[in-house]
Amino acid sequence: MRVVPKLMALRSAFILYESLSGNTAQLSMFIHQLLEYDDTNVKRMPLRSFLDLSIADADEVIQQYETIFIGTYTDDAHLPPEPIEELMETYAFPGQQIIAFGTGDTQWGDTYCLAAHTIAKHYQSPYPVLEIEQMPARSDEEKIYNWLEAIDNEQTHGKSSDYGAGKSGAIHRHY
Ligand SMILES: Cc1cc2nc3c(=O)[nH]c(=O)nc-3n(C[C@H](O)[C@H](O)[C@H](O)COP(=O)(O)O)c2cc1C
Repeated sequence: MRVVPKLMALRSAFILYESLSGNTAQLSMFIHQLLEYDDTNVKRMPLRSFLDLSIADADEVIQQYETIFIGTYTDDAHLPPEPIEELMETYAFPGQQIIAFGTGDTQWGDTYCLAAHTIAKHYQSPYPVLEIEQMPARSDEEKIYNWLEAIDNEQTHGKSSDYGAGKSGAIHRHY
């Protein structure tokens, strides 16, 4: 079994994800598993199911979590998918920390995982954006965990640190 330090600050997390062909859904599952392994109280939901909730029901769910992870693919128009646009227009999440993650394809160059960066920018998230190329593999776990540790570190000490490069190479910051 992997021996890992405990994530101190990430005590409760809600994971929302938008995925068409399954890559971002798989990534959200890895994040879920890693957080659960460190005893974070975590719930995961497809974004479309969340948007189907009444505002009152959605608020009730949101209030149970300190941190909200939002994941997305990036599509042809390089804009966030429509459900992500709807989420950003509808929910401000004033009481939560927002963290963005995405899957993409480096062949798209400058727009690699751009939608995830758009989420981070919209919510003024101070945390690094996790970028994974296409379908995440078990070999990406270390990169994902390093990213969670960087977030945890920032939440605990206010320190920003890079979480290291995975198979997709450098960490892109679009803003
Ligand atoms: C038509 C089309 C356009 C795409 N444009 C981009 C892009 O601009 N940037 C990027 O990083 N990935 C782009 N991708 C790749 C997808 O974002 C990537 O395959 C993603 O992992 C799909 O996630 P999903 O399986 O969760 O739907 C594009 C894919 C398609 C089919």
